[in-house]
Amino acid sequence: MKCHILTLFPEMVLGGLRTSILGRAEEKGVLSLHGVNIRDFAENKHNRVDDAPYGGGAGLLMQPGPVYSAWKSVAETCEKQPRVIYLTPQGRVFNQEIAGELAKEEELIFLCGHYEGIDERVLELIVTDYLSIGDYVLTGGELAAMAVIDSIARLVPGVLHNDASAEVETFSDGLLEYPQYTRPEEFMGKKVPEVLLSGHHGNVDKWRREQSVLRTARMRPDLLEKAVLTEEEKELLKTLDFQGEM
Ligand code: ADE
Repeated sequence: MKCHILTLFPEMVLGGLRTSILGRAEEKGVLSLHGVNIRDFAENKHNRVDDAPYGGGAGLLMQPGPVYSAWKSVAETCEKQPRVIYLTPQGRVFNQEIAGELAKEEELIFLCGHYEGIDERVLELIVTDYLSIGDYVLTGGELAAMAVIDSIARLVPGVLHNDASAEVETFSDGLLEYPQYTRPEEFMGKKVPEVLLSGHHGNVDKWRREQSVLRTARMRPDLLEKAVLTEEEKELLKTLDFQGEM
């Protein structure tokens, strides 16, 4: 997968993303990250890419010309036009299902705004998807793009050491992940649950599934509406009362 990131701060996005697993994925050739500095496409000798909004108001807006030229410099190199994802609190709220859908694409373009945003006309011309990472406002789209790219890239085959770990964990079946333990067997008087030391895989799987269901009911009951539960699990949940617990 290839991700192009159009931004005024490519060093921020690439530095963050290349720090660990995604950096190694790039070295292996299963992922490619390409930063495009929108300022390189400024149309004046001062390298300015922002200006005051027509009609007045606070702050500065990114001008359409440099954003369009930055996009064109990438689009010209692509046979099939990639989806262009603009990070904005006004977009569809990103989740694991959207990550899975985007991970199937060969190539993606991410557009990061800064200051008060980007002139609407260039968004109308080039953007195909508007994505938000939650109902709060960041100073720019860069951190949002990093979060989205990280979660998409780890679903690309070969990025994680163990592809199974992308499948089993939180959200893959609409439930939170079960608790995990490693050495030592006892820490500050707290023991690893006996079943995990038993070597009985059937019992371990059963215990983990039950813990996932219980944890989801306790921490994120809203997720249970979409989760696929057995009749037995539904019965188990009816017997519980989490009121007053946090
Ligand atoms: N840019 C600023 N805030 C954002 C958010 N919550 N999600 C995506 N992009 C943003």
